[in-house]
Amino acid sequence: FSSGVARVAGEVSIQGIGVTELVEEYGSPLWVIDENDFRDRARAYVEAFQAAFESLCGGVDVFYASKALLTVQIAKWVKEEGLHIDTASGGEMAIALRAGTDPAHIGLHGNNKSDDELRTAIEQQIGRIVVDSLAELHRVEAMAGHLNKRANVMLRLTPGVDASTHEHIATAHEDQKFGLTMTPAPGADTSVAYQAVHFAADAEHINLVGLHSHIGSQIFDSTGFETTATRMLEFIAVLAAEDIHIAELDIGGGYGIAYTEADTPVAPAVIAQNLAAHMAEEVDRLGIDWPRISIEPGRSIAGPAGLTIYTVGTTKTVWVEHAGQHYSRRYVAVDGGMSDNPRPVLYDADYTAVLANRVSESGPVFSRVVGKHCESGDIVVNAVYLPEDTDHGDLLVVPATGAYGHVMSSNYNMLLRPAIVAIKDGQARTIIRRETYDDLFAREVDL
Ligand code: LLP
Repeated sequence: FSSGVARVAGEVSIQGIGVTELVEEYGSPLWVIDENDFRDRARAYVEAFQAAFESLCGGVDVFYASKALLTVQIAKWVKEEGLHIDTASGGEMAIALRAGTDPAHIGLHGNNKSDDELRTAIEQQIGRIVVDSLAELHRVEAMAGHLNKRANVMLRLTPGVDASTHEHIATAHEDQKFGLTMTPAPGADTSVAYQAVHFAADAEHINLVGLHSHIGSQIFDSTGFETTATRMLEFIAVLAAEDIHIAELDIGGGYGIAYTEADTPVAPAVIAQNLAAHMAEEVDRLGIDWPRISIEPGRSIAGPAGLTIYTVGTTKTVWVEHAGQHYSRRYVAVDGGMSDNPRPVLYDADYTAVLANRVSESGPVFSRVVGKHCESGDIVVNAVYLPEDTDHGDLLVVPATGAYGHVMSSNYNMLLRPAIVAIKDGQARTIIRRETYDDLFAREVDL
C-alpha cells in the first residue's frame, strides 16, 4: 500500500478519504494514485543515487520510465521532482513534451522506431535517442544529416545477463529482440556493439552520449545489475584504450516491488549504495574514468503509489478436486478485470485484495477474485482469503496497481476504462476522466 493508506473506522482510506466516498464521486472501478507517495518515491531515487554516486562520478540522472504510468499531469510531477523522463514511443514523447518537459531531459527508446519518431526526436534535439540496432544507427546518421542536425545517441547493449524474472520481461540475455550484442558472432573479430560504438564515434551527425543496458523488470536480486555494470565497465575500458571516451552509462530500471507479502523489495538507498560500492571497485580495477551514471526506474515509482477499487457484483462457490482432495473455492466477481489489469493473465502476476468498505466479523474464505470478461483467465487476484460475508456491493481494494495497469488497459468487451484520481495533501482530483459510451463511438466514422 502507498504511504497514505489507512483503515479509518473500518474503512480503507487514502489520505483520509474513504473508498466509499471515492466510488460515489468518481465511479467504480477506480484507479487511485497517491500523488504524495509517487512524488516521494521519485525524489527518493534522485536523493539516493545522488548521495551514493555524486562524489564518485560527478552526477546522476534519474529517468522515470514513463511506460509504467503516464499522463500529462504525471509527467509534470516527474519534472517538478527533478527527474528526467524515458519514453518508448512517439506517443509517450508527445505527452512528455506536452507537459513542458525540457527536450534535453527526454530519452527515446524502442527496438523499432518509426521515421516520424526519429525525426521528431532529432528535430526536438531530445537528450538521447537510445539506438537499438546497427540498422537504426545508420538511419539516424542519415536522417540527422538530412535535417542538418546532430542527433544525441546512446547505444543500448545486450550484456548477456540472465535476470531472474518472467521471461516476457527479461531483456539482457542474447535471444531476444532488444539491444546490440556484446558477443562477437561466430568467426567475427568484433561484436556488433563494438562496431556500433566505432560508427557512432566517427559519424558526422551523431553525438555519442553514452551506453545503456536494461536487464529486465520486477527484479529483486542485485547480482544481475552488478554483473551488468562489470561487463559495461569492462567494455568502456576496452574503448578507453582506443581513445573513445564514454561519458555516460545508464544501467536501466527493473527494481522489483511488493505485489503481495511474498515480495521483498530493496530500498533505493540500498540499491544505490551497493551498486556504487561495486562499481567503485570495478572502476578502480580497470583504471578508467567514471562515466556519469543514469537509471530508469518505472514500476518502483508508480506501482506502490497506485491502487484499484472494485465493486463486488456476485459470488459463487465451486468444488475443486486436486491430488485426490476435495476443497471449495469461492469466486468473487468484480466490475473490472483484465481490461484494467492484464498482468495476471499475461504474466501470472500475483496480487492481493482486501475488503475495503467495512470490517467483517466473519471468518476468512479461500477466494479467487475474477473480473467480468468473457474469459476464464480473467483473474484479478488468484488466491486470497476474504471474509465469508463478502457480497454484492462491497468494495475491494487491490494494492500496487499504479504501474502497467492504466497504460496496458483496453476496452475489451467494450468495458469503459476507469478514471484515475490523484490524491495530494488530502485533496482528490481527476487526472484522467472515466470513459463513457460516447468514447466507444468516438472513432467510428460512419454512425
Ligand atoms: N528501461 C527500459 C529500457 C525498459 O524497457 C523498462 C521496462 C524500464 C526501463 C522500466 O522498468 P521498471 O523499472 O518499470 O521495471 N509490462 C510489464 C513490464 C514491461 C517492462 C518493459 N520495460 C509488466 O507489467 O510487468
